[in-house]
Amino acid sequence: MRKLYVIGIGAGDPDQVTVQAIKAMRQVEVFFVIGKGAEKQELVDVRTSILTEHLDHPYRTVEIADPPRDRDPADYRGVVEDWHDRRSALLENEFAQVDGVGGILVWGDPSLYDSTLRMIERVLDRGAQSFDYQVIPGVTSVQALAARHRMVLHRIGEPVHITTGRRLREDGLSGSTVVMLDGDCSFTKVPGDDVHIWWGAYLGMPDETLIEGPLRAVEQEIVERRTRLRAEKGWIMDVYLLRPGS
Ligand SMILES: C[S@@+](CC[C@H](N)C(=O)[O-])C[C@H]1O[C@@H](n2cnc3c(N)ncnc32)[C@H](O)[C@@H]1O
Repeated sequence: MRKLYVIGIGAGDPDQVTVQAIKAMRQVEVFFVIGKGAEKQELVDVRTSILTEHLDHPYRTVEIADPPRDRDPADYRGVVEDWHDRRSALLENEFAQVDGVGGILVWGDPSLYDSTLRMIERVLDRGAQSFDYQVIPGVTSVQALAARHRMVLHRIGEPVHITTGRRLREDGLSGSTVVMLDGDCSFTKVPGDDVHIWWGAYLGMPDETLIEGPLRAVEQEIVERRTRLRAEKGWIMDVYLLRPGS
């Protein structure tokens, strides 16, 4: 492969694809799609519609099956490292079949809770292939959340922390904190009566749902809405900001 574009496509709204992303996609001859098996068809459809809307040159799509992994392991880091190894071996094999320009579309932006860049580094570190790669930034779900709630993520001059549901449960809350990858409504475990929450699910997508308010006043509503939406659609993606002392 001569060149690889790693292209952030935004977190769900096809109108958030940047002009730079479209220009890069137009260079790509082969798109590598890392499938998640029973991946939500709606997420696949967002990617497909972006490609059909913006491209009129011939291109191929190569599907790479995502190897299975233990979702709740005792040794989280070890299991993820092993999974990345197996994923990057599959990618390496597919990269080797391509002469020209490849592309990988990444949900949101590749810099945030996404393993694509780590896998590419692994492929290059193994030394069997060498190619140039370029990252095209995309709108993250964090930015989409902030925009839909029309808010600044932090107070004036203060930091903002971005973490996962698992780490929120382990570390507790301190300061403005964005929580991603939380399948367990970890906000319900955060103590205190002065915490505020800004929550968003399916941001930029037709079922987008927003709830905001004092955590203790709205947490039950979020849990119930989340459970119902998840049951109706079979999947959910949500992200939220917590801030103590509001
Ligand atoms: C594997 S991470 C990928 C994040 C992505 N790279 C980004 O820039 O937003 C998936 C998590 O991102 C968040 N997420 C992504 N898209 C979302 C959306 N449209 N609505 C709400 N949350 C979203 C959820 O917290 C989900 O669990």
